Amino acid sequence: MLWVIKILFVGYFAGYSSNEIAVSGREGALVKVAVLSDIHANIYALEAVIDLIDKEKISHVLVAGDLVGYYYWPKEVVEVCRTDSRFTCIQGNHESNLKIARKDASVLDRLTKKYGSSYQICLDVLTEEQLDWLLNLPDRENVVIGDATFSLLHEASVGGGGYLYPDSALTEIVANYSDAQYSVLGHTHYPFVHSRGNRWLINPGSVGQPRDIGNLASFLIVDLASNVVVPKRVPFPTKKIIQCADEYDPHLPYLKNILQRGLL
Ligand SMILES: [Fe+2]
Repeated sequence: MLWVIKILFVGYFAGYSSNEIAVSGREGALVKVAVLSDIHANIYALEAVIDLIDKEKISHVLVAGDLVGYYYWPKEVVEVCRTDSRFTCIQGNHESNLKIARKDASVLDRLTKKYGSSYQICLDVLTEEQLDWLLNLPDRENVVIGDATFSLLHEASVGGGGYLYPDSALTEIVANYSDAQYSVLGHTHYPFVHSRGNRWLINPGSVGQPRDIGNLASFLIVDLASNVVVPKRVPFPTKKIIQCADEYDPHLPYLKNILQRGLL
């Protein structure tokens, strides 16, 4: 049976890559996997998510790209993602942007006008080691945890210019399934869960810039023991982020307004 849970809008995926890593589950343990995406250098949101991950005793954290871009704490976010042994990350379009902007001042200028000062801040505060790590992340990854397989990809490969939403055409949704049991997409900043038989197409939404409810970081927990995907939302403080957006990027009110959208 084919069915769709419309949590709100969506994300995407497809295909297997040459990158493949295996992470063994703890024997006898009930393994839970946290699936994150689009952190966007928002350390306040990431810390709120990690608090819950710690409480839930989650052993594996998968991140489907866009660790940086938009906000202002890339050093802290990259350091968590790089050094926490639970994390496996791929890159998204914002890491690709940063890679180009690092070598071309005209691109940096254009991207700053569009997205704000986040790229310049990355170049100012990240160490060479952090930049090398971030900019050399794979753009897709296959991960094996116990008996489960995950495919990570940031943008949808079929339809919608990389954006796959829950109300996208069913043919596009189906076409974005990979060969893995869990196909993970990001990019849209809207959580999405779709299943087909015993396979899942999931987008955790955005940790750092949720576009449905602005102050609730969004992610998913996959419980491998019960084969259940659980959407999670956790509040994070926005005051400091909004202050910084006003200070650093007053020409882009979107950066603060989006964090105040649909507040509960
Ligand atoms: Fe993003």
